Amino acid sequence: MRTAVADPGVDLGPLRPLMDEDEVTEVMVIGYDRVYVETRGTLFLTQARFASDAELRALIDRIVTAVGRRIDEGTPLCDARMADGSRVNATLPPASIDGPTLTIRKFARDRLRVEDLVRVGTGSATLFGFLRACVLARANLLVSGGTGTGKTTLLNVLSSFIPEAERVVTIEDAAELQLRQDHVVRMEARPAGLDGTGRITIRDLVVNALRMRPDRIVVGECRGPEAMDMLQSMNTGHDGSMTTLHA
Ligand SMILES: Nc1ncnc2c1ncn2[C@@H]1O[C@H](COP(=O)(O)OP(=O)(O)OP(=O)(O)O)[C@@H](O)[C@H]1O
Ligand SMILES: [Mg+2]
Repeated sequence: MRTAVADPGVDLGPLRPLMDEDEVTEVMVIGYDRVYVETRGTLFLTQARFASDAELRALIDRIVTAVGRRIDEGTPLCDARMADGSRVNATLPPASIDGPTLTIRKFARDRLRVEDLVRVGTGSATLFGFLRACVLARANLLVSGGTGTGKTTLLNVLSSFIPEAERVVTIEDAAELQLRQDHVVRMEARPAGLDGTGRITIRDLVVNALRMRPDRIVVGECRGPEAMDMLQSMNTGHDGSMTTLHA
């Protein structure tokens, strides 16, 4: 899997209107003739279509090459980030049987805030008051849930409780967190380049962050070996750290 930043000028073809529609949070393409969107939590099949799998493949190539990556039958899975912050995943046959797929999680310009979560009933004001107290008391916090259940959103809300006077280092695979504090160092992992070098892992960044005098380390998502480093840093004086974990 590879991640990089796509060019803002990429011609998105039939997906452009969907990307421009504010209510659409996710755009999902399966082969040339099935384009789904997610709007307010519900999936819809749209009328949008590509002329052929080749045309869809050409769009995938445009997105991927704009960030200096390559996707082909040999490496048929690819992650990228568009210039606006949207996350892109593309797959090709033989990994995806019914043609190329493209999944775009649109960048949430206005990430939900604690008031929003209380309003929609995610939790009571009392619950979030308790969570705020946990953050202020430097409890280590781990947000767990399945795909798309709101982990990053909740982590963003929890981060918003961190006092302004503290130094925060955020570490993510693809930068999504939107902290309002000023004293934040944002770090992002990076896959290997085409020549196989230059990879920076979450684990590298966690280890490095320990030397950056962090008051808090916020890790977007712990998946592999970094989980161990994260637990260790939580245990060795960097209390008040936060991360998410896939359930
Ligand atoms: N409490 C909530 N109530 C309603 N919608 C929410 C809530 N939390 C998140 N969402 C919406 O759900 C979508 C997914 O949220 P988010 O990115 O936080 O999930 P995630 O668990 O981090 O996903 P992933 O597993 O892909 O990293 C977003 O569109 C977000 O605005
Ligand atoms: Mg997430």
